Amino acid sequence: IERLFDESYVRVLSREVDGQGFFAAFYERFVAASPEVAEKFRQTDMARQQAMLKKGFYHLLAFYASSHADYYLDQVAISHSRAHLDIRPGLYDLWLDALVETARRFDDRFDDDVELAWRLVMTPGIVYMRFHYDR
Ligand code: HEM
Repeated sequence: IERLFDESYVRVLSREVDGQGFFAAFYERFVAASPEVAEKFRQTDMARQQAMLKKGFYHLLAFYASSHADYYLDQVAISHSRAHLDIRPGLYDLWLDALVETARRFDDRFDDDVELAWRLVMTPGIVYMRFHYDR
């Protein structure tokens, strides 16, 4: 699973589609996914958000690899909780779907096995983020 994900991740990062890189395309798709998401990002500078996404991503992957949250992921989970950004748990489904659909568009070897690998690799970090919503 890790190998399927890693190889797909390298492919999606190595190209542009319609003049856009992977993270820009993902962010655009995610924001378009629901008015609630768009509302959350109303004040956000897109370039800054993409840089943060990339970094957040890296820590999600590290979490999958080690099953151990680093300090940074802890801070991100706290920032997304009810008391702060108030990202309700259901929004992570939209996040993951937008990510998978973007990967499908960027990876010319995307198939069911690759999709499952993306979902499995992201899931522990998402569970971790959701768990801290009320804590
Ligand atoms: C900010 C990562 C899911 C909305 C951030 C930041 C990171 C991050 C690293 C910047 C640092 C911080 O504020 O703590 C992630 C990861 C996610 C995720 C790894 C998935 C596992 C979501 C979801 C939403 C969301 C589902 C729903 C709309 C936001 C908003 C900000 C933010 C509104 C603040 C933007 C600003 O500074 O204006 N996220 N996020 N995130 N995230 Fe997320």
